[in-house]
Amino acid sequence: MLGGLAFKTLVRLVSDGGVVILSGAGLSTESGIPDYRGETGRKRRADPMTYQTFIGSAEARRRYWARSHLGWRHIARAEPNAGHHAVAQLQARGLVSGIITQNVDGLHQAAGARKVIELHGAIDRVMCMSCGGRTSRGLLDQRLREANPGWHAQAIVINPDGDAVIADDQIDGFDVVDCHSCGGLLKPDVVFFGENVPRIRVDECYALTGEARTLLVLGSSLTVMSGFRFVRHAGERAIPVAIVNQGATRGDDHALLALDAPLGPALTALLAELGPAS
Ligand SMILES: NC(=O)c1ccc[n+]([C@@H]2O[C@H](COP(=O)([O-])OP(=O)(O)OC[C@H]3O[C@@H](n4cnc5c(N)ncnc54)[C@H](O)[C@@H]3O)[C@@H](O)[C@H]2O)c1
Ligand SMILES: [Zn+2]
Repeated sequence: MLGGLAFKTLVRLVSDGGVVILSGAGLSTESGIPDYRGETGRKRRADPMTYQTFIGSAEARRRYWARSHLGWRHIARAEPNAGHHAVAQLQARGLVSGIITQNVDGLHQAAGARKVIELHGAIDRVMCMSCGGRTSRGLLDQRLREANPGWHAQAIVINPDGDAVIADDQIDGFDVVDCHSCGGLLKPDVVFFGENVPRIRVDECYALTGEARTLLVLGSSLTVMSGFRFVRHAGERAIPVAIVNQGATRGDDHALLALDAPLGPALTALLAELGPAS
């Protein structure tokens, strides 16, 4: 597999530089954060929070924050893996002109990558839906602890995006807090299902993709249109698309190459093949 034609083509494309990376949940599974769909393309969970549910009821927000209060620490503890480090290395070598990630875990930056566009936001930030103010998740964590002294819950399952499944009776007793400057509703600074990515961010990604020499997709099933549209954009401009992903993706028909391999080993091998930085 590594060493085959797809891998050789990948090495050639990356060595030419001008690579725009579009990463997804598959890049972070080796850090212990589950993806949504996995290799078979089947969804691992039936009910991700939607924007409409979140804004629709105080009860849904209580449920969300209680579960997330517990679950986000799992993501906060995660460390970048060999794949994230390889991406940062490729960028440091000047081969990467942009990084667009669908992940909300901050692991690209933790590995040293710069100017990462977080298409779906970041789980370690919180935003106020009234005044738009952004605060750190650490601060919210502290306020939620203070509002819920003695609250202890046990996670049954940790879902992607730092959502922990906990028993209903443990959710009932959880108190949510509001924006400390205006009293507005707080929301994690992530794009929920059913919510649009801010236009300005989308346009930035289109511009970046349009100027790429290669669009390299890492660990995304591309099921979500939010990421897939950039693959189409590249395809329409005859910009080669390369995909490294375990399992099929919706972008395979648009791709010059699709390498089915685990990302840590594949990207480490890619770096080795490129040779020492000049
Ligand atoms: N880490 C995170 O921040 C995180 C985690 C889960 C979901 N999400 C959100 O959910 C959505 C999920 O869409 P998506 O396309 O990013 O993910 P996805 O779950 O739809 O697809 C992930 C793909 O990566 C593959 N994969 C898993 N581990 C791999 C590995 N080690 N090497 C190579 N391939 C591997 C899977 O087989 C799958 O095809 C995104 O919009 C994202 O915002 C984020
Ligand atoms: Zn506010």
